Amino acid sequence: MSNESAYKGKVLVAGATGKTGAWVVKRLLHYGVPVRVLSRSEEKAKALFGDRVEIVVGKIQERGDVDRALNGCEAVISALGSNSVSGESSPSEVDRDGAVRLVDAAAAAGVKHIAMVSSIGVTKWYHPLNLFGGVLSMKLAAEEHLRKVFSSAGRSYTVIRPGGLKDGEPFQQRLHVEQGDKLWNGSTNRADVAELAVLSLWVDKARNRTFEVINEAPEVQETLAGYYDQLAE
Ligand SMILES: NC(=O)c1ccc[n+]([C@@H]2O[C@H](COP(=O)([O-])OP(=O)(O)OC[C@H]3O[C@@H](n4cnc5c(N)ncnc54)[C@H](OP(=O)(O)O)[C@@H]3O)[C@@H](O)[C@H]2O)c1
Repeated sequence: MSNESAYKGKVLVAGATGKTGAWVVKRLLHYGVPVRVLSRSEEKAKALFGDRVEIVVGKIQERGDVDRALNGCEAVISALGSNSVSGESSPSEVDRDGAVRLVDAAAAAGVKHIAMVSSIGVTKWYHPLNLFGGVLSMKLAAEEHLRKVFSSAGRSYTVIRPGGLKDGEPFQQRLHVEQGDKLWNGSTNRADVAELAVLSLWVDKARNRTFEVINEAPEVQETLAGYYDQLAE
């Protein structure tokens, strides 16, 4: 596992202070990729990352904040997520409108690639998780917008749909990847989701892919890049 990547563009991480987002930052820094984070709290971002990243303070609701954060970035990884049924961190505000705003602003800023953390079950409006503010439907709307805007020439996207998220170190699980949103159960580690998102920056077969991921069995992994070979267009 090399700790150097050929990718040298600056990457904006949205939702960096969250549990998955913090892993995204950690893995980007591991590969020597320059990182900027958009955070509502400078204090929280500083406590997590110190001086190792650039911090832009702002909300995903404010287009001006998002534009400032994107200025000069080549790629975006979004691990944004709602955590309340109403208000500023609700599914409609964050998972749909916030993510859509991020996609539009990124396109306008000349960003080349976006990786978005979504969820298994997003196409199932009748899934019980959707009782939480329609979170799955909100995520699907954001995914669809991303696919529409970032499939055009010169841009690309990767949508990762994990099962239930767990904490723990990366590379400890054999993963199961699938397409078509057929999974109902399963869980996976945030750290592996973060690694897959980071790899999408330079792994060709990650371009313009949407896929689900869950743990299959404990088994140490050298790299997760090979999982992208299993995906169809
Ligand atoms: N939990 C699960 O089992 C599960 C399963 C499948 C998919 N997912 C999805 O996976 C992703 C990551 O999940 P997670 O558990 O790692 O998330 P998390 O810890 O809840 O982090 C969410 C991030 O979003 C940020 N955020 C929320 N509202 C914001 C706003 N208005 N403006 C700017 N940032 C805002 C939070 O910032 P603050 O730190 O400032 O609050 C935090 O950085 C989410 O999209 C989640 O829906 C989760």
